[in-house]
Amino acid sequence: MAKNIYSKPVLFTILATLTILVGTVVTMFVPMLTAQMHPKLEGLKPYTALQLAGRDVYQSEGCPFCHTQTVRPLKTEVERYGHYSLAGEFYYDRPFLWGTKRTGPDLAREGGKYPDSWQYAHFEDPRAFAPHSIMPSFAWLKKIKLDPAQVETHMKVLGFPYTQADISALAGKTELDALVAYVQTLGTAVTVKAQATVPVTKKMTHVPNPLAGSHEAIERGEKLFEQNCQACHGKEGVGYIGPSLRDKDIFLYVRGNVPDDDYFEIIHNGTHPGGIEDGRTEKGGMPSFADTLSNDEIWSLVAYIRSLQGEK
Ligand code: HEC
Ligand code: HEC
Repeated sequence: MAKNIYSKPVLFTILATLTILVGTVVTMFVPMLTAQMHPKLEGLKPYTALQLAGRDVYQSEGCPFCHTQTVRPLKTEVERYGHYSLAGEFYYDRPFLWGTKRTGPDLAREGGKYPDSWQYAHFEDPRAFAPHSIMPSFAWLKKIKLDPAQVETHMKVLGFPYTQADISALAGKTELDALVAYVQTLGTAVTVKAQATVPVTKKMTHVPNPLAGSHEAIERGEKLFEQNCQACHGKEGVGYIGPSLRDKDIFLYVRGNVPDDDYFEIIHNGTHPGGIEDGRTEKGGMPSFADTLSNDEIWSLVAYIRSLQGEK
C-alpha cells in the first residue's frame, strides 16, 4: 500500500495537502471562531448613527493618511498619548482605522481631550491653534447636510442598534457635527489611566506670585498668552472656548477670588472633568502646560492675568 501511494504523485499530493491543511484549520481557523479572539472592553458601546456618519467622513476625507489611531506599548507613546491601545477597543470598528503614518498626532485618545467647541474651531481653522499646522481646514464640512436614509442603511449593514428617533435626529445635522461626535468617542472606553507620567501635579501651600506686579513679567506673560492661551481664552482673556479670565471674582464658575497659586496650579496641571481645584468642580478641557512652560513663565502668565483683572 505504502509503495502504491509513493508511486501515485497526484494522489500523494492531494493527501499531503489535506494533512497539512488539518494543521492550518486547527491553528488558524479554530481560534478565529472562539470568543477570546474578539475581545470587547466592558464600557465599549456600538457607534450611534451620528458617530457612524462621522466615522464615514473620517474615512472619506482621508484623515487616516495623516493620523493613526493606535498607541504602541512604548514609554514615549504612552507618555504622550495615554494608555496603549487594547484589542478590545476595536470590536465595532469595521474597517479598522489604525492608519500607517503620523503626519499629525495619534488620535486614539482624542475623545474628551478638548471641549466640542475646540474641535469645531480647530477643524475650521487649525492654524488658529497651531500656527504651523499643515492640517487642511475642514470648514466646508459644515455646509454639507447628512443624508439620514444613507446613514440608516449603513447602521443596518453593520448591525448597530438604532431607533427611528435616532435617524430623524440626523436631519439638519452636518458632516462637521458628525465628525466632532465621532472624534469625541475615540479612546473613551479605555478607563485604565495611563500608567506613568502624566505630568506631575503641583499642589502649593499658598505662596504668593513672586513676580506679582513686575512690569517685565506682565509683558512676558502677555506674549506667552498670545502664543499659548488666546486661541481658547480669546484676545486679552475675554473668553471663548475657555472661560473669561477678566473677572477676579469668578474662578471655575463660582464667585469668590482665589489666591495666585490656584491660577498657577490650573495652568500647570490642566483640568479634567470632575477634578477639584480649591473646592470648585472642573468641567475639563484646559490642557496642562507642565511640559511646555517653566515655573517663571507660568508666574508671568498669572501676573498678566491679574493685570487684565485690574490688579496692579
Ligand atoms: C495633511 C495632514 C493632515 C490631514 C489630512 C488631517 N490632519 Fe489632523 N492634524 C495634522 C497635524 C499636523 C496636526 C497637529 C497640528 C494641529 O493641531 O493642527 C493635526 C491635529 C489634529 C487634531 C488635534 C490633535 C490634538 O490632540 O491636538 C485633530 C483632532 C485632528 N487633527 C483631526 C483630524 C481629522 C478628523 C482629519 C480628517 C477630517 C484630519 N485631522 C486631517 C495633520 C492632518
Ligand atoms: C484648549 C483650550 C485651552 C487652552 C489652550 C488654554 N485653556 Fe485655560 N481653560 C480652558 C477651559 C475649557 C477651562 C475651563 C476648565 C474647566 O472647567 O475644567 C480653562 C480654565 C482656565 C482657568 C480658570 C479660569 C476661571 O476663572 O475659571 C485659567 C486661569 C486658565 N484656563 C488659564 C489659561 C492659560 C494661562 C492658558 C495658556 C497658558 C490657557 N488657560 C490655555 C481651555 C484652555
